[in-house]
Amino acid sequence: MTTALSSNGFLWGASTSAHQIEGGNTNNDFWRLENALPPETEERSGDACDSYHRWREDLDIVASLGLNSYRFSLEWSRIMPTPDHVSRAALGHYRRIIEGCHARGLTPVVTLHHFTNPLWFADRGGWRNAANIGAFEQYVRAASTILADVSWVCTINEPNMLALLDPAASDDDPSPETVLTYDPVITDVAIAAHRSAVSIIRSETDAQVGWTIANQNYQSAPGAEGAAEAWSGPREDVFIAAGEGDDFIGVQAYTRTVVEHERPVPLAAGVERTLTGWEYYPAAAAEAAVHTAKLLPRTPILVTENGIATDDDDRRIEYTRESLRALAAVASAGVDLRGYLHWSLLDNYEWGSYRPRFGLVEVDPQTFERTVKPSGVWLGGVAASGGASL
Ligand code: BGC
Repeated sequence: MTTALSSNGFLWGASTSAHQIEGGNTNNDFWRLENALPPETEERSGDACDSYHRWREDLDIVASLGLNSYRFSLEWSRIMPTPDHVSRAALGHYRRIIEGCHARGLTPVVTLHHFTNPLWFADRGGWRNAANIGAFEQYVRAASTILADVSWVCTINEPNMLALLDPAASDDDPSPETVLTYDPVITDVAIAAHRSAVSIIRSETDAQVGWTIANQNYQSAPGAEGAAEAWSGPREDVFIAAGEGDDFIGVQAYTRTVVEHERPVPLAAGVERTLTGWEYYPAAAAEAAVHTAKLLPRTPILVTENGIATDDDDRRIEYTRESLRALAAVASAGVDLRGYLHWSLLDNYEWGSYRPRFGLVEVDPQTFERTVKPSGVWLGGVAASGGASL
């Protein structure tokens, strides 16, 4: 049976990011933040899943599940530990992962920047300083030397979260207001850096290039019509619109956010929440894909992240099944969907804590032993059937 998800080349994969799985990323700003906060408020990433050494095992698992794609990110602080040194050893490491994907029949989806910055970049004002765009361009040029046979490149992961969660800002003022406030300077700098990275990747590689957005599915509360559009404009839509002309856009959605009177409405008591505290809302990815297609009707969509933080793996399967059914429906209705990459392959470091478990695969924190969960086997089966088994 053919489905909207069974086209040739449809990507069925799992996603990760460097800082969340590699371990030992001591030279970036998130490591510094984790280690500056009191231990009772924050878990440290530490050795994470030790994927810097165990990446072969990770790729073996992705392939053995029957998925055909793996999304991972390059750690800028390893490739450029100082502003004027490009580490050939670090590039070699990531090159081997790309080759490891090809050798296992996996299509690599490579993210260049997933939240973390080298310390030297952060100390120069990071994404708040337009003069730093040149440093990012230098990094993108260095990275492009290992991407010749990569077909999908994401420049910056969730630039809209970057503009909301600037570590320097939350350090000064950790109030909830800070998290709700977007930084227009970071917005402009990130968009300019993205446009420049797209040009570099296009001139140096054959990859399809785009960026990936944190889609919050803003919805207006009853009686507050227009509230969602006003809220979403600077926090999300400006970043989607900046992807105009790219080869694809990454949709990353987990839940929805209802807005009224210029603020999100707190969740009502009794609403099912996941381990991150978010509403259980499996329509998220499909609704985000529809919203994205409305703003960028000519741009193919990859769902580069979607998943659920839970200890109940049956609930993970249920969430993902409902999510994929909804995605199949919107794809049948015309949304140009090219792939689905589940967040996440592994139970990994969730930016301050290991408690929210998003993985298709469990990782023992002491031994790093990987154990595939039923959801991993289930998703592989769905992939093998091209979505027909949904
Ligand atoms: C990020 C991931 C994160 C996930 C779940 C996305 O915002 O790209 O790094 O782990 O959502 O919170």
